[in-house]
Amino acid sequence: MTDLSQLEADLAARIDAAADTAALEAVRVAALGKSGQISDLLKSLGGMSPEARREQGPAINGLRDRVQARLAEKKAALEEAELDAKLAAGRLDLSLPPRPRRKGAVHPTMQVMDEMVAIFAEMGFAVAEGPDIEDDFHNFTALNFPPKHPAREMHDTFFLQADSAGERKVLRTHTSPVQVRVMQKTNEKPAAPWIAAGQDPPIRVIVPGRTYRSDSDATHTPMFHQVEGLVIDRDIHMGHLKWTLDTFIARYFETSAVETRFRPHHFPFTEPSAEMDVRCDRSGSEIKIGQGSDWMEILGCGMVHPNVLRNCGLDPDEWQGFAFGFGVDRLGALKYGMPDLRDMFAADTRWLAHYGFSPFAMPNPATGLS
Ligand code: PHE
Repeated sequence: MTDLSQLEADLAARIDAAADTAALEAVRVAALGKSGQISDLLKSLGGMSPEARREQGPAINGLRDRVQARLAEKKAALEEAELDAKLAAGRLDLSLPPRPRRKGAVHPTMQVMDEMVAIFAEMGFAVAEGPDIEDDFHNFTALNFPPKHPAREMHDTFFLQADSAGERKVLRTHTSPVQVRVMQKTNEKPAAPWIAAGQDPPIRVIVPGRTYRSDSDATHTPMFHQVEGLVIDRDIHMGHLKWTLDTFIARYFETSAVETRFRPHHFPFTEPSAEMDVRCDRSGSEIKIGQGSDWMEILGCGMVHPNVLRNCGLDPDEWQGFAFGFGVDRLGALKYGMPDLRDMFAADTRWLAHYGFSPFAMPNPATGLS
């Protein structure tokens, strides 16, 4: 007959001595497992006489209950100690300097676009927008492009595949189609809420947006950004155009030292037409503005052609106006000293970290643009 109190003392000593939960589990199995010492005792009850069972039963069950309770108590204590040890080992070292967090930056093109909108808003221009995928009518025909004009050729223009009606849409080659959308008074609702609706003159809008041409070198990228300008009123002449652009350039570069020149040019949708250049120095790796003996073309402009006015339902004897369109990326590169326009769209995060702007650097003509 097993000495129950001896067994209980033994088990108690082994439970107390268990150094971790694994060792404790071994004690539990030895006592209460399938063929553990206490389990064997419980099994032996079945073979006893009723008298013996009446005496041994409560004693063995009591032993089992006490051992179970002791095991549970020890297990909780060990688990708590193990958790404490784990926490102590994994404690954060608050004395380590934090790694600098990478912040997003505003792309220079977007920053420059905001600067331009701020300047023109102050001059009383509203902002209009149009779709990137244009139809032939808005991109070419309404703008007085003759049917065989080279811009309608594949090598200059990205054409989409013809739709079921045989119509070939284009990725707009300039923002000028939005001139048409603004001037044209149709009864149709614009195809999207952000597309300009036709309005009555006087009109004074700028059109910031993406444009596309099959071109790629250091000063041309296949996708680029333009800001178009359009003014329509009764007595608008080329003097207004020249003042507006010269004022814009002086405000944009934040100096009146930037010299400009107008060169006669040809656009189908303006007459007369001109291109405007800014003086710059291209002898070093960076293009320097306002010095040197080179000129860089930055925009096209002119008086809106009477045919365009007519195509948009305006009487050229009553309304005149001017229009201009310039390359945003190129003006950004000139102002902030970026030698290769293609870098602007290479999505290189090092380039963006270097040239990007803080989202809090909101352009404001009163307090400084940049
Ligand atoms: N759309 C012309 C271009 O992309 C620029 C321009 C706009 C010229 C408006 C005259 C008037 O080159």
